[in-house]
Amino acid sequence: MSLIGNHSGAQHESAFEGYANRPERKSTYEVAQIGGDGIGPEVINAGVQAIHAVAKKIGTFTVNFMELDWSSDRYKRSGKYVPEDYIEILHRYDAILFGAVGAPDVPDHVSLWGLRLAICQPHMYANVRRTKVLPGISSPLKGLSPGDLDWCIIRENSEGEYAGHGGRSHRGLEHEIGTEVTIFTRTAIRRIARYAFQVARSRPRKLLTYVTKSNAMRNGMVLWDEVIKEVAKEFPDVTMDHMLVDAMTVRMTLQPKSLDTILATNLHADILSDLAAALAGSIGIAPTANIDPSRTMPSMFEPIHGSAFDITGMGVANPVGTFWSACEMLDWLGESEASQLLMEAIEKTCADGIKTRDLGGNANTQEVTNAVIERIEAL
Ligand code: NAI
Ligand code: MG
Repeated sequence: MSLIGNHSGAQHESAFEGYANRPERKSTYEVAQIGGDGIGPEVINAGVQAIHAVAKKIGTFTVNFMELDWSSDRYKRSGKYVPEDYIEILHRYDAILFGAVGAPDVPDHVSLWGLRLAICQPHMYANVRRTKVLPGISSPLKGLSPGDLDWCIIRENSEGEYAGHGGRSHRGLEHEIGTEVTIFTRTAIRRIARYAFQVARSRPRKLLTYVTKSNAMRNGMVLWDEVIKEVAKEFPDVTMDHMLVDAMTVRMTLQPKSLDTILATNLHADILSDLAAALAGSIGIAPTANIDPSRTMPSMFEPIHGSAFDITGMGVANPVGTFWSACEMLDWLGESEASQLLMEAIEKTCADGIKTRDLGGNANTQEVTNAVIERIEAL
């Protein structure tokens, strides 16, 4: 990883470093821009500005964004979130920058499956969620300072409770049944375990905590435990420990420094990563990378938060989660210098107290964006 300048900011470790399949760097990247719903288009618009600024500063590449109107509005108009040939369309791009999906007048399971899961499953099997306390942002945990909480959560992104297996019968009757069948396969556990070990190996502490619930769930979760222990033999340099998911919430809250890379199932990591974002200060700052490590599909980068109806259109959405997701995108594309520069600008902006109101500040989305761009230019 290349480093730039003499700076005091905490170092931005690549979550993708060490992964064998590095891309060839390009002079122009094509990115699909899907703002989606609610504050999604607002934060993505901010992210696009920041990416253009950082590309200009680095000077060796440009990014072309193609705006796709895949959203709940489109669904309400046409009955579909995405066109028939959406997978072919996505193959034209090097990456996807995604806002959020979810509208007050569409059931959440329809919007999520119609857009986000349609894009991510099953190729983007690694959901990478980095969390740290940024300078100038206070954690709700007492006495925690930047550096004390620095995690990379790896979420299995293709199966588990979110595989879509199940059904409803006897609708409306007293004996109505609803099942959500949890699917775990050796193939998917092995591939996500290898990915998580590679991430753990690339980070200074080389520490992986994997999370299951193999006391109460005695089939699929026990398979997880077995496969992870097998994969661990390939990574003797990584220290590994195991937590049950309920106890993990306690450890994250009371001993945050004891954790580094965390591997969990689709459902468990979904919940744990929201907890992680809250412990780091706000859901508005947390990034997500949905990675297809084989690079068959473009990977998708998005803030962790949703469409936030309560603040839509007010111009106060925190763009930091999107900026950080943009860092992950640049890193994945092989532009680690640009990624590092953008992360530094984000950290400097937060440290200077230019924050949206979810972080206790009074800046709006565009003011935070302008501040980040100014710092990119000055660095
Ligand atoms: P949410 O993340 O949209 O909002 C939760 C709370 O956090 C709200 O008070 C909101 O104002 C605040 N918040 C979220 N992002 C923020 C930001 N960038 N800056 C400042 N404050 C922010 O979660 P909620 O309310 O549970 O879901 C709303 C909709 O979003 C639902 O339709 C849900 O299905 C969808 N959703 C979509 C996701 C996605 O597209 N990946 C993820 C989570 C929810
Ligand atoms: Mg979630």
